Amino acid sequence: MLKVTIDHHTLEVPEGTTILQAARMLGPDKAPPAMCYYSTLEESGGKCRTCLVKIEKNSDQEPRPIPKLAASCRTLVQDGMVVANQSSEEVINARKDVVELLLINHPLDCPVCDQAGECDLQDLAFEHGVATTDYQEDRRRFEPQDIGDLIKLHMNRCILCYRCVFVADQLTDKRVHGILGRGDAAEIGTYIQNAITNDFSGNMIDVCPVGALTDKTFRFKSRVWFTKPMNAHRDCAQCCGNVVLWMKGNEILRVSARQNAFGEVEEFICNGCRFDSKSTEKWTIEGPTKISRHSVISQNHYAANPHTPWKGLPPC
Ligand code: SF4
Ligand code: FES
Repeated sequence: MLKVTIDHHTLEVPEGTTILQAARMLGPDKAPPAMCYYSTLEESGGKCRTCLVKIEKNSDQEPRPIPKLAASCRTLVQDGMVVANQSSEEVINARKDVVELLLINHPLDCPVCDQAGECDLQDLAFEHGVATTDYQEDRRRFEPQDIGDLIKLHMNRCILCYRCVFVADQLTDKRVHGILGRGDAAEIGTYIQNAITNDFSGNMIDVCPVGALTDKTFRFKSRVWFTKPMNAHRDCAQCCGNVVLWMKGNEILRVSARQNAFGEVEEFICNGCRFDSKSTEKWTIEGPTKISRHSVISQNHYAANPHTPWKGLPPC
């Protein structure tokens, strides 16, 4: 086991643990934000720089500090390492710069974006962003591209985190999209006009940290904070069948996978559960989903009354 100290909390972690994974062991409020790393997707991380931390002491053997801030999702813990995350002003300032950089090429269209309320970049900007920017040049703009009936691609909002590419690579049997081009011309695309319909492709929507990939079947139906998330399950031959139903009254507006305290999908679900099972008879409803994230999405949710069955709740 290796000893590491993060923001004055010391813990022991197995060899091969990254700083981000170690920080997550302290709890969601102590961990650095992560826009591209996803614990269940191999090769993810190292793209967005939101998880930067300061390594004040590299190890007992090599006690020098690391001169530059390091991406915690890609840096392994060394024995005796001392790391500053929220306790370092340098890190907080760097995160402000990263938010500014990400927002250079991200439209401020939260009022019309379906991801609003559950967008990692919105949360990050709220917590670390500054109200002004020095940037005056043109921003990237892309022509709309149709990638099928199920998923809406809004490339102007993409932060090129690669998560959707890893989902398509690692969960579906045939990836038909990827990142084309380089530098500021890099974009998500299918190259030859192609619909993304593979059985598990809907998970791209859940892993996308911003509103670049959204559920076409839920588009503009409701602001997410006006819906009631309910845990539900069903027998499914394709996936675990454990989901969250986003309901308005007794109507299911959207089905998504369940997420943990870090906003990551607990178990990926199939497109059959996500897109083709929007009637309540298909589900066994367990009760209100506990929203553990700090975002606006956790606001406006009723406290569950244990004596009231879910059907008795007033429509929102
Ligand atoms: S579309 Fe979303 S998940 Fe895919 S690279 Fe862009 S931001 Fe990441
Ligand atoms: S989460 Fe570490 S670089 Fe993106």
